[in-house]
Amino acid sequence: MQFKLETSALSQISADTVVLGIFQDEKPEKVIQRLDKTFSSSFLKSMVRFAQDEEFIGKNGQLLQLPTQGQIQCKKLVLWGLGKSEQYAANNSRKLAANLARRLNSNGANKSLSIYLRAKDSHKKHVQAAIEGWILGAYKFTKYKSVDQNGDARKSAVVEVTISGAQISSREFNEAVNAGAAIAQATNLARDLIAEPACYMTPTRLAQEAKKIARGGVVSCTVMDREQFEKLGMGSFIGVAKGAKEPPKFIVLKYSPPKAKRSIAVIGKGITFDSGGLSIKPAQSMEHMKYDMSGASVVLGTMQWINQLQPNVAVMGIIAATENMPGSAALHPGDVLTAMNGKTIEVNNTDAEGRLILADALVYACQQQVDEIIDIATLTGACVTALGRAAAGIMGNDQKLIDKLIESADEAGEKLWQLPLFDEYKDYLKSDIADLKNAGARGEAGSSAAAMFLKEFVDGRPWAHLDIAGPGWIDKDKDEINKGGTAFGVRTLARYILRNSS
Ligand code: BES
Ligand code: ZN
Ligand code: ZN
Repeated sequence: MQFKLETSALSQISADTVVLGIFQDEKPEKVIQRLDKTFSSSFLKSMVRFAQDEEFIGKNGQLLQLPTQGQIQCKKLVLWGLGKSEQYAANNSRKLAANLARRLNSNGANKSLSIYLRAKDSHKKHVQAAIEGWILGAYKFTKYKSVDQNGDARKSAVVEVTISGAQISSREFNEAVNAGAAIAQATNLARDLIAEPACYMTPTRLAQEAKKIARGGVVSCTVMDREQFEKLGMGSFIGVAKGAKEPPKFIVLKYSPPKAKRSIAVIGKGITFDSGGLSIKPAQSMEHMKYDMSGASVVLGTMQWINQLQPNVAVMGIIAATENMPGSAALHPGDVLTAMNGKTIEVNNTDAEGRLILADALVYACQQQVDEIIDIATLTGACVTALGRAAAGIMGNDQKLIDKLIESADEAGEKLWQLPLFDEYKDYLKSDIADLKNAGARGEAGSSAAAMFLKEFVDGRPWAHLDIAGPGWIDKDKDEINKGGTAFGVRTLARYILRNSS
């Protein structure tokens, strides 16, 4: 796929298809006339008729394909509804490009396509978003599809995408393309890891993927085996791994540029399959539980992005990876574990395993003396109940960090919504025999109770927790997010890290 800057006037663009966005409050013929005076009035008149017949009014996502009959350079002019103009920001250009990638990509007649941008603010931001959107929208996981199986609607036909209507230098354009492509490719890498079934994407494979990322040169990777983290005292993490035949791995990726002034740890939940353990899940809730390593894959995607962007801030990626299985050696409900900071945990529910593995990862991160910690995890069904698939929950001990993450998410086109961490929630975690128990009362503030548990393993340094159980998986394509594991969080973390680059 090639991305190029197109500077010709609308009528002179020589792509197979030119896509022109039209706002709901505009008349397409006026827009076209304003952009390029050379369109003939007969062309415009027939277009107006056509648009009326097809009831094209520029509604968001509405598409109208106009025959150009050799009157202009391109073969097809597509009008694309952009919705209300006052709401149009870079996030909309991302959505637009993603939808185009999905809807026009499979048509063999579209070898080249030009997207005419209608940006009202920073053109560079729009270009970056459009490139991101295109690569994200065109994503498909085809590894297990037979080659000759037809009907794959997303087989890509477009080989060249040009961006027209952008007032931008070619240097800025290239920067925007590189930035957009890096984020989208990192997201797609993470999506691939989630899409792999649990029988393939084991903790061992996850560790291999981490090593692969470290081959890029600027990031280093260490993988610890059970004996090693047993010595470190990670009793909470080891407890979860007990029921699984697959060996658990503790993965640490380090990026530390010599001039960095700050350091951030990003911790991912790497449960490669969550059966619930002996507190076993019903079949329906288990169906997609290969995505319980989404946090880990987001961390890997982010480290891959760092390889390319090399920001000036130190980042440590930490992944605790294991299956959660009900083997004969599995945790019994009621078992007591000792985490790396010495706190004892009564496991009243083996399905609340994410917080158990994160506990040791958080203590480990604190011991590494990083300036701040962000963990990302498909942690609670309660978060899906509270926020649905639209947003991830965010909680933490530092409002500034939380606010900056929410802003970064907004810019990136992802949504974070803060849930409270009231002291009252600590009561849910009171155990009769240990310092804490791992699961609170069913149906009561589950996401906050889980975050309250995590807080017990942070030594007071700034920490934020992202619960991506909801937006981590969707069943239907939506804009730049394709159905299946979404790798929600890569874009937010990338923006946040860039913001901290000095
Ligand atoms: N991985 C699940 C959370 C989850 C649920 C993610 C649905 C995505 C979709 C987690 O390990 C879990 O099972 N949590 C329990 C906690 C409870 C036992 C306190 C839950 O949410 O039911
Ligand atoms: Zn679970
Ligand atoms: Zn889980």
